[in-house]
Amino acid sequence: MGKGDAMVEVRQISRRFDSMLAVERVSMQVRRGDFLTILGPSGCGKTTLLRMIAGFLDPSEGHVLIDGQPMNDVPAYRRSIGMVFQRLALFPHMTAAENVAYPLRMRGFHRSEIPGRVERYLRLTRLEGMEGRRPHELSGGQQQRVAIARALSFGPDLLLLDEPLSALDRKLREEMQLEFRRIQQELGVTTINVTHDQREALVMSDQIVVMEGGRIQQSDDPERVYRLPANRFVASFLGMTSILPGVVTAVDAGGTRVRSGTAELRGRTSIDLQPGAVVACAIRAEQVRILTDEGAHCDTTLDAVIRQRVFEGDRNLYELRAPALGEIRLYAFDHDANRRRRHAPQEKVRIGWNVGDLLLFPASEVGTQPGSMNQQGEN
Ligand SMILES: Nc1ncnc2c1ncn2[C@@H]1O[C@H](COP(=O)(O)OP(=O)(O)OP(=O)(O)O)[C@@H](O)[C@H]1O
Ligand SMILES: [Mg+2]
Repeated sequence: MGKGDAMVEVRQISRRFDSMLAVERVSMQVRRGDFLTILGPSGCGKTTLLRMIAGFLDPSEGHVLIDGQPMNDVPAYRRSIGMVFQRLALFPHMTAAENVAYPLRMRGFHRSEIPGRVERYLRLTRLEGMEGRRPHELSGGQQQRVAIARALSFGPDLLLLDEPLSALDRKLREEMQLEFRRIQQELGVTTINVTHDQREALVMSDQIVVMEGGRIQQSDDPERVYRLPANRFVASFLGMTSILPGVVTAVDAGGTRVRSGTAELRGRTSIDLQPGAVVACAIRAEQVRILTDEGAHCDTTLDAVIRQRVFEGDRNLYELRAPALGEIRLYAFDHDANRRRRHAPQEKVRIGWNVGDLLLFPASEVGTQPGSMNQQGEN
């Protein structure tokens, strides 16, 4: 079987803990050689799903197939899977090299083969010179790389990663994301990664599966997940998003018309919405423009008042209120932070966006509270 066909297939898998359904009828496929990320907030069922794929936990219902073979009766140690756990699990009394050699010894590799493999995977994870150190003599990032080398050293068909980077500081985490992607592509090993960090998911993945409440909300490539969110939850979980409550007033050639507060807005939707439908209108901070005199054209414009400016280095983030929309908080990025233009609290401005940037979803779909927004993980 070659690159591109489904290596892992999860069919209608559920897992119950007492009365709680942690994973609910999840189905997905992972193509051979792909890097797939399961993305979602804490408690949504990511680790539970990963542990069922690994064979550490039995599904209450449903099946996992690897290379077309049902895994129901195949114990974890018989599956060719390397795993890096959410909580680091290096052997503290073993050196880096001994840690990496461990799965090779367990799996009965010939003694003559072990040193070469250990060296290769320590080199791949850029740990040359650190072979003899014990975990407490390594930095957090170096320990993570030992764990990765150990998961890879026996040549697994599948690599499962449960938030292996979440304990690292931001800079190191971002470096490791690229490093990880490099190693994964170099080896071509099919990988399932779990994270609640949207940036990590966008940067590293061929495919993203967004989960919430034990269920899949969307499964797509990173650009589609970001640009064409399937529902309100996905729209607010990725990116800095304002959500405006509204009611559909008309559907015509110019788009779907919505009343929100006293404002008449137009937006885009991929579903059939009828007049009277209660909707959530989502708009990303990078689509909301603060219009200046030279102002670009916008389909929708509103009066607004600056509430707060947050300097983020490469950009300013503004929190605004538009009287026509009531108390709803709006967020706008201004990427030209070097320009002297800078708006102060209480300043009156005109804001705008284009029809295609306002995404309409049925209000009843899974999601956060009206007017709330998600602050991109904990970057
Ligand atoms: N062994 C268990 N017994 C009972 N409940 C469990 C068990 N393991 C997980 N849960 C519950 O199942 C739900 C999903 O847990 P899971 O660990 O899969 O979440 P997660 O998405 O990995 O979260 P996090 O990002 O915090 O690691 C949670 O509500 C959790 O409390
Ligand atoms: Mg988890």
